[in-house]
Amino acid sequence: MTAKKIIVAIDGHSSCGKSTMAKSLAQELGYVYIDSGAMYRVVTLYALRKGLINNGKPDVEKVIGELGNIRITFQWDEKTGRNTTFLNKENVEDEIRQLEVSQNVSPISTIAEVRHEMVRQQRENGKNKGIVMDGRDIGTVVFPDAELKIFMTASPEIRAQRRYDELKEKGLDVDFKEILKNVEGRDKIDSTRAVSPLKKAKDALVLDNSHLTREEQLNWTLEKVKERTEQL
Ligand code: DC
Repeated sequence: MTAKKIIVAIDGHSSCGKSTMAKSLAQELGYVYIDSGAMYRVVTLYALRKGLINNGKPDVEKVIGELGNIRITFQWDEKTGRNTTFLNKENVEDEIRQLEVSQNVSPISTIAEVRHEMVRQQRENGKNKGIVMDGRDIGTVVFPDAELKIFMTASPEIRAQRRYDELKEKGLDVDFKEILKNVEGRDKIDSTRAVSPLKKAKDALVLDNSHLTREEQLNWTLEKVKERTEQL
């Protein structure tokens, strides 16, 4: 739909629908979608498999030493409408979403050398533009010159409610208060960590989707893409 391609950086709090929005946007625009969180998850999975994380503590030196052996790629799966993540050509999409990975990804994502290598690969993916990337530091660190930066958020209660509904739908026995505590806890870790904390880039547009449908969010963002590409 657009002649000139841009970089769209989407950052924001956990569980506020970043990846859903980023995926639909990329599909709509015919852009590449990169889930940067998946990359930190792949490194975590690799480290777990190699026994490099014990009781939540990674062996930092060894993890850094293995970085050269971790090749992360993505492939769009037309059939499932999903982006599939590969570790050295092995499909690890389901495995990286499992609880063990979620529980160990935070300490891995704070290792400066890991971030450095992920950022290098993320920039490589964006060198031809036409990309939508979501994460925590995309507009601030990875692509500070992105033509469009969006900072997504929603109130903790609404994010917890969405997560609660999602898990309930999967038949899991969940406690709303527990989930809310988890959402607030992750916000705190993400925003206060020393390396690349989550913060809104000065020139990012805030999208508070507390009271917006998916369609409304997508339309709003498509409008912004149109505005930015017309300015090129
Ligand atoms: O978005 P997610 O839950 O899949 O992200 C997994 C972890 O990676 C989460 O702890 C935050 C971290 N992350 C990060 O530090 N930087 C990014 N650009 C993306 C994710």
